[in-house]
Amino acid sequence: MAGRLAGRTAVVTGGASGLGRAIALRFADEGAFVVVGDVRSDPREGGPSVAEVLDERGSFHEADASRSDELGRLVEAALEHGGRLDVMVLNAGIAGRHSKSLLETSEEDWDAIMSVNLRGVFLGCKLAVAQMLEQEPIGEVRGRVVTISSQHGMVGPPGHVAYAASKGGVVNLTRQLAVDYGPRGVLVNALAPGKILTGSPEQQDPETLAYSYARTPFHRLGRPDDVAGAALFLASDDCGYVSGVNLLVDGGWMAY
Ligand SMILES: NC(=O)c1ccc[n+]([C@@H]2O[C@H](COP(=O)([O-])OP(=O)(O)OC[C@H]3O[C@@H](n4cnc5c(N)ncnc54)[C@H](O)[C@@H]3O)[C@@H](O)[C@H]2O)c1
Repeated sequence: MAGRLAGRTAVVTGGASGLGRAIALRFADEGAFVVVGDVRSDPREGGPSVAEVLDERGSFHEADASRSDELGRLVEAALEHGGRLDVMVLNAGIAGRHSKSLLETSEEDWDAIMSVNLRGVFLGCKLAVAQMLEQEPIGEVRGRVVTISSQHGMVGPPGHVAYAASKGGVVNLTRQLAVDYGPRGVLVNALAPGKILTGSPEQQDPETLAYSYARTPFHRLGRPDDVAGAALFLASDDCGYVSGVNLLVDGGWMAY
């Protein structure tokens, strides 16, 4: 199959819904074999499952992105298909009821967010980089890791202490790994979405929406495909000398 990821294998965590789903499907459309992991198979936004849409272009696995053994099964599935792992996208992340201001955040809230958003990304990076160092480069690159951070990893959003801390950690973890593994041909970048509409319209919080519109200079909020396009760039040969960046896809949110 032709495409910018023809013949490549990719893993996407949290790929049943939202941004991960859009990334997985875009990669498949560009010729990749995509291994998707998630704790649920039905998309939060409704519609057909990612497994149905991928069909033979990938596989779906129930896998908790906070657990090394389950992340390891995703890497194994990629190796079984293509003998290598070209792209690892660490997208799974949570906020929701655990995301509050400092005094309301319990130790359980903190641990719940950190275990997926930061510890899970650390574990996934470790597995991916270990595998990538074992494989021959294609051109000059052994593999590409894409972490999903947030504009809220760069500023303090009102009332989201654990989420913001976790995403700030992802941004600097990404820089660290770009520095440590660039010499051996692994590119590591973060992608920072601004407000992207995921889930169903009924799941949107009107207050968050109003705040997001007020913060976003562009005339609309983001769509999952906006993020998928940027992820495709970071995953493809077009990204040959970009490493350690935190690529904002935010309609200008962070420009002021
Ligand atoms: N949507 C936005 O506006 C936005 C903005 C900034 C950053 N992000 C980040 O982008 C990523 C995706 O966000 P989204 O809006 O698509 O979220 P979403 O809730 O629509 O989808 C997340 C998916 O991850 C899965 N998931 C949750 N915990 C998991 C776990 N432990 N293991 C495996 N899968 C798990 C969910 O089941 C779901 O399918 C997250 O890391 C989020 O923090 C989103």
